[in-house]
Amino acid sequence: MNGKRIIILKGSPRGGSNSSILADQVAAGAKEAGAEVELFSLSKMEIYPCRACEACHASADSQCVIQDDMQGLFPKLREADGIVIASPIYWFTFNAQTKACIDRWYSLESPQGNALAGKQLALVLAYADTDPYSSGAVNAIRAFGDMARYLKATVAGIVYGSSGEAGAIQQQPKALAKAYELGQKLAK
Ligand SMILES: Cc1cc2nc3c(=O)[nH]c(=O)nc-3n(C[C@H](O)[C@H](O)[C@H](O)COP(=O)(O)O)c2cc1C
Repeated sequence: MNGKRIIILKGSPRGGSNSSILADQVAAGAKEAGAEVELFSLSKMEIYPCRACEACHASADSQCVIQDDMQGLFPKLREADGIVIASPIYWFTFNAQTKACIDRWYSLESPQGNALAGKQLALVLAYADTDPYSSGAVNAIRAFGDMARYLKATVAGIVYGSSGEAGAIQQQPKALAKAYELGQKLAK
């Protein structure tokens, strides 16, 4: 172990998920390079949407008050050196499971700054259409870039691949290799 902690958030609900397969490659690369990696399947977790109640911002040390599985994830996000979002593209952007989790990061902002500032962020996407433009992956990539800029986080890399059927990404060695390399980079 080299002391680097990487959190991977998988948003796909389906078995044999392409974004999940790419995320596993990121995990393998990061582990091989010595990082400690934890993977979370968001669709198996209870994650409610942000209610905009603002309770998390009521005072300098207020926390999110929604009692669900984000309560276990928040400390992991705070402690991580790197955070990987792995999402399928649904309706031209992140899927709902992924977006619900990201929206809850709202509570990580405080007068001391954002808890995710300075971290390495990475993005993994799978979509069925032929390219990142017609699939809508560009929208998720654009939102991800804006998120990183807002959070004052670093974009470590983005890996995406066109793959409709579950498991189809296995036939794309270049995408798999790119994901593995991204994991290695995150571990450095
Ligand atoms: C509800 C739904 C919406 C989808 N919307 C899009 C889309 O807008 N663009 C696209 O290229 N693929 C779309 N797809 C196809 C998936 O992105 C594609 O199958 C991808 O490989 C799924 O990733 P996963 O295997 O990690 O779940 C959609 C699939 C579903 C189920």
